[in-house]
Amino acid sequence: MAIRTILHYPDKRLREVGARVEAITPEIRQLIDDMAETMYAAPGVGLAATQIGVPVAIFVVDTAEEGQPSQLRVFVNPVIVEREGEVTWNEGCLSFPEVHEEIDRAAKIRVRAQDRNGAWFELEAEDLLAVAIQHELEHLEGVLMIDHMGPLKKRIVHRKLQKRADEHASA
Ligand code: NI
Repeated sequence: MAIRTILHYPDKRLREVGARVEAITPEIRQLIDDMAETMYAAPGVGLAATQIGVPVAIFVVDTAEEGQPSQLRVFVNPVIVEREGEVTWNEGCLSFPEVHEEIDRAAKIRVRAQDRNGAWFELEAEDLLAVAIQHELEHLEGVLMIDHMGPLKKRIVHRKLQKRADEHASA
């Protein structure tokens, strides 16, 4: 396993769309293992493949609370098939260091996806797990948390992270 580099906004690769995974190959399993390791090392509650520059439709989530046993969930080719209610959550994102935003999401969802063996499953989720799944699924569509912000905050966040990227590039 290996920890991969997490791309930060405004890296353009974050706008790529995750392509459908046709077969669970050893490379895909390796990618999933690396994504899990990278997420735990960050640490974060979710990570999409597009966040490490691999544009395929996979994300991993673990919303277990601190001190609780880890509960890694792998979603390959995920689709949300039902949405219900509304909840506003204060979200963060590993690609937006130190940025938070209140985002409206469905409170309850039903998602269909394949697991790391290619088996299809359905999962009902609510609260943090539902929010995390909706957030990660957007990553696979090239949609980012900044897209949910109003024009003023969007400008501030863009400027801040552009500056950060410039500093890293020249360091
Ligand atoms: Ni994110």
